[in-house]
Amino acid sequence: MTSRPSAEPSPDGSLGAAGLRLAVGGEVATVTLARPERRNAMTPATWRGLAAIGAGLPPQVRVVVIRGEGPSFCAGIDLRLLSGEGAPGEEGLVNPGDPDFEQAIARYQAGYLWLRDPSIVSIAAVQGHAIGAGFQLALACDLRILAEDAKLCMKEPALGLVPDLTGTKPLVDIVGLPRAMELCLTARTVTAAEAVALRLAELVVPAAEFDAAVSDLVAALLAVGAAPARATKALLQQAAGHTLQEQAAAERRAQAALLRRRASVPAGPPPGSP
Ligand code: CAA
Repeated sequence: MTSRPSAEPSPDGSLGAAGLRLAVGGEVATVTLARPERRNAMTPATWRGLAAIGAGLPPQVRVVVIRGEGPSFCAGIDLRLLSGEGAPGEEGLVNPGDPDFEQAIARYQAGYLWLRDPSIVSIAAVQGHAIGAGFQLALACDLRILAEDAKLCMKEPALGLVPDLTGTKPLVDIVGLPRAMELCLTARTVTAAEAVALRLAELVVPAAEFDAAVSDLVAALLAVGAAPARATKALLQQAAGHTLQEQAAAERRAQAALLRRRASVPAGPPPGSP
C-alpha cells in the first residue's frame, strides 16, 4: 500500500512555475499539466510539484483527475535536460555520479506514488501523446480514459535510459511480462485502439466526448460511499500479493472494520433504503 508523500505543499505560484495547475472542487481534484507550448514536458520541478500536490491534498478529496493541456497529455522529460542544453530557470537533473542520485530519483518518484493511495481514485485523462515520463504518469493512475488520438510510448530505452518513474510495475501487472518487454525494448507507440486491447485503457472515446466521459466516470465513482470505496480499493490492492485464503481473510477483516466503524457513528439510513 502506498501513502501520500510527506513533502510540504507548494504555494500556487511555484506550481505554476512547475508547469502545473491544481483545482479542487469538493471531493474532486484536477491536476493539469500546463505547459502546452512544450507539450507538457516535465522537469524535476514538475515532479516535486506533483509530490507537493499529493502531500497537501485536502482530506475530503476522493477522486483525482490528471490531465494535459493542449494537443498532448505529456511529452515526457524535457529533452533539454538530457541534451545538457538545460531548461531556462530550471534546475538540472542530478549527476549520476552524485551519491544523492538514487535519493533524487526517489524524490521524483514521490510525485507519482501518491496516486495509488487508497483514500483516492486517480484517473489519467489522456489525449494525444503520453511519452516516457508522461506514459509512466498515466500508468501511475488507477484508471485511464483515452481520447481516440491517444498514443502511448515508453521511450526511455531508446534514449539510453530505463523507465524509472514507477511505470514498470503497473505496466507488467497490466499487460504481462512479454508484452511489457516488447513495448519497452522496441519503444514503439501504442494507439488508443491497441491500448484497450492491452487493458491499458478502461475507456476510449472520440475527442468530442472526452470531457463528458471523464465527468461521467468521476460522478459514477462519487456515487459510491467514501468509506466502502476506500476500504474496497485497499482490499483490491492486496489481492495480487495474496493467496486465495489470505485474501479471503483480508476481506473478513476489511468488512468487520468497515461495519464496526459505521456502527460506532450515529445511525444513518440502512444501505438500500430510499
Ligand atoms: N522536451 C522539451 N521540449 C519538447 C518536448 C520535450 N519532451 N516535446 C516537445 N517539445 C517542444 C518542441 O521542441 C517544440 O518546441 P518549439 O515550438 O520551440 O519548436 C514544441 O514542444 C512542440 O513540439 P512539436 O512541434 O514536436 O509538437 P508535435 O505536436 O508535432 O509533436 C510530440 C508532439 C510527438 C510529443 C513531439 O514533440 C515529441 O516527440 N517530443 C519528444 C518526446 C520524447 O522523446 N520525450 C522523452 C521521453 S523519455 C522520458 O520521459 C525519460 C524519463 O522518464 C526520465
